[in-house]
Amino acid sequence: MAPMTDMDKMVELVKELKGQRNAVILVHNYQRPEMYRIADYMGDSLGLSVKAAETDADVILFCGVKFMAETAKVLNPKKTVLLPNLDAGCSLADMATIEKLREAKEMHPGAAVVSYVNTSAEIKAMSDICCTSANAIEVVNSLPQKKIIFLPDKNLGKYVQQHTNKEVILWDGYCFVHDKLDADMLLDFKSRYPDAKIISHPECKEELLKVSDHICGTGGMAKFAKSDGSKNFIIVTECGMTEKLREDVPEKNFLSFCNICPYMKSTAMPLVVRSLVQNVHEIALPDHIINGARKAIDRMLAVSKSSS
Ligand code: 13P
Ligand code: SF4
Repeated sequence: MAPMTDMDKMVELVKELKGQRNAVILVHNYQRPEMYRIADYMGDSLGLSVKAAETDADVILFCGVKFMAETAKVLNPKKTVLLPNLDAGCSLADMATIEKLREAKEMHPGAAVVSYVNTSAEIKAMSDICCTSANAIEVVNSLPQKKIIFLPDKNLGKYVQQHTNKEVILWDGYCFVHDKLDADMLLDFKSRYPDAKIISHPECKEELLKVSDHICGTGGMAKFAKSDGSKNFIIVTECGMTEKLREDVPEKNFLSFCNICPYMKSTAMPLVVRSLVQNVHEIALPDHIINGARKAIDRMLAVSKSSS
């Protein structure tokens, strides 16, 4: 038997600590591959929210970014929610500020506010309903209002606009990881692999989505690759997704057209160990924010449940 590496030892330690603390570890699809080894559940933002709502563990440790850990706290106010590294933010979420949302609401009275889960808990508390990349179209179409303030991702907003009769008011926000991926460069890449199908995340620009064969959030990518007749796929999103697909769908080939999200990659195994030992960094939110955000998240979960 090969000797244990330092990583093997850390993984064993995390598993032991997890048992001692009755903790559950939720891991987003973009995380470093070694995190797969400690995950109780891996998935997209929607799947992770559903798991956070269902767990009976005492501690939820989030290997993802801060808005995801906040969502877990909103759904479990009495539990300890840990984020191993406070640098795990999201520049897209930071583009939705309370002041800007107040202005938008004043400018469009009567419009519904749909906030992508990539927002702070404060913004969620000011919203009618949340959505993820997996259910954004459904959520918008479920609303009685004709006018929708959609924040903060303009690319996802434009994509939703093309699949609804509602008037979607776009926000000037974007994810730099996805927004800087270029359609011409993708076509050039594809010309070298003509039989590969392109699967893109809807945070990518419109020109890029137009040349894609399939558009979905991270949770839909494996499903499409498994069911589609093609053998080869070009994955257009954060680079970690390709690794995850190679693991989940080993019978197919995945090529990456991607960028790295430094926030997602800022969680490393030693920080997970520290988090469980020192109980850092604990997510804390005021009650009124928890109550407000909870309504918006619960409405989203109800829409997703009714259509699944
Ligand atoms: P998903 O909800 O598709 O997992 O996306 C989360 C995210 O941060 C995309 O950049
Ligand atoms: Fe935020 Fe973009 Fe990173 Fe997702 S990939 S966490 S949207 S910066």
